[in-house]
Amino acid sequence: MLSSLFSADGTVSPSMRRRELMKSAAAGLLVTTASDAAPILSTELKFPTDFAWGVSTSALQIEGSLAADGRGPSIWDNVNGGVSRSPPEPAASHYRLWHEDIRLLQMLGVSAYRYSIAWPRLFPKASAPLNEAGLAFYDRLTDAVLSVGVEPWVCLHHWDLPEWVQQQGGWIRRDTVERFLEYARTVVRRLGDRVRHWIPLNEPNIVAYAGYGAGVWPPKLMNEEFFFDAVHHQNLAIGRLCRELRQPGWQVGPVLAFGPIRPASGDARDVAAAELQRLVLEDAFLGPILLGHYPEALKIRMAPLLADGDLGTIHRAADFIGINYYGPMYRRAWPGAPFSNDGNVKLEGSPVTDGKIVIDPEGLGDILRLLRDHYDNPPVVITENGAAFDENVQDAQIQDQNRIAYLRAHLQVANRELSTGSNLRGYFVWTLLDDWEWTSGYDLKYGLVHVNFETGDRRPKSSFDWYSSIIRSARD
Ligand code: FCB
Repeated sequence: MLSSLFSADGTVSPSMRRRELMKSAAAGLLVTTASDAAPILSTELKFPTDFAWGVSTSALQIEGSLAADGRGPSIWDNVNGGVSRSPPEPAASHYRLWHEDIRLLQMLGVSAYRYSIAWPRLFPKASAPLNEAGLAFYDRLTDAVLSVGVEPWVCLHHWDLPEWVQQQGGWIRRDTVERFLEYARTVVRRLGDRVRHWIPLNEPNIVAYAGYGAGVWPPKLMNEEFFFDAVHHQNLAIGRLCRELRQPGWQVGPVLAFGPIRPASGDARDVAAAELQRLVLEDAFLGPILLGHYPEALKIRMAPLLADGDLGTIHRAADFIGINYYGPMYRRAWPGAPFSNDGNVKLEGSPVTDGKIVIDPEGLGDILRLLRDHYDNPPVVITENGAAFDENVQDAQIQDQNRIAYLRAHLQVANRELSTGSNLRGYFVWTLLDDWEWTSGYDLKYGLVHVNFETGDRRPKSSFDWYSSIIRSARD
């Protein structure tokens, strides 16, 4: 089929109608010619017909309206505590403008939408009863998502831990698992007649590392012991919930942040530092979840935390593993605390995004092959992939060609791995809207849609149209 589009010298036949070209090009993922005049085809990428094509968001990053309808504080709200440059208010004003965002999902043509529920909207205070207004918001939202033919993928907890849960110890405490399950069951009782895809926790490895080990994100604790507590209790929360929700037709799985962790140099100390980082960020989660045990090097450390049956509960409870991939991490030996963020190195000279993340699509291939070859090839879903870039917002339509190039390159790698045996079931772009990006506040723009944070106005960028054409041709 491809050959019919090209003349003998490999150029696009001038008689080919633009419409046909666009349709075929979308099927093959566009690359542009040197002159940038006409898009031509690279390879034709085939994805299974039931592949989930999605976009991801999270509650605190888009909603705003933090004081509306009885919401309580989360550990990320308090900018004066130094957690971010700016408050998550108004974010993208999604709590107010959600109808517009549903319309955007419909225009985009995704088959799946991953969004999170804000625990502090449902249970704003310790021992308070359910705040019905909070749950009602997600009830309406879920109906609306379904009404435009999109499958809801509900993430139950994306970092915005209620302040009161933290005051009781957060993930250091084993009974936070019970608090989480009580909250999760409330959501599942209400939405379970419509939602079939569930994610217990977003990136528990980053929560444990940045929040309890490196101490750079809320709750800003820097303590090895707390780190391991947070690892095991989150693994347990995942295992318990996945088992409770097991039923035909449902898919339940955690989302972990992955990127190859590489030594900053060939020096043996840097190599060891990268190994340690891999152990605590990757193996401490994939080990119990997929193999049924903590890695050898952590067994003694984890033993006091394990109650009878814990490992059996965690092992193979999930139906899939969600992968959030942005880029690789480079680690050097660091004389200070072992988990300190200071051991992370920015690689000079490599192309980076605005968030200083090294652009390395092959790193995604490394992760997919790791799961395929060392963890028995579980079903995987790329639950986040995307890039922040500075943009010229004066253009009538923001021309974010760099984002298109980033997404295209990652999709090409995903497709190659799929065709060589990776058990990949879906791909979600991070993210639909420009949003509030945690410690970076509003500085990093990841959206397929530009948001004017003062007015709430939304403007799809060219990456929105590009992704839409990719999805439509893949679904045709
Ligand atoms: C991920 C988070 C997500 C978003 C992206 C850029 O680690 O899960 O909320 O901020 O990074």
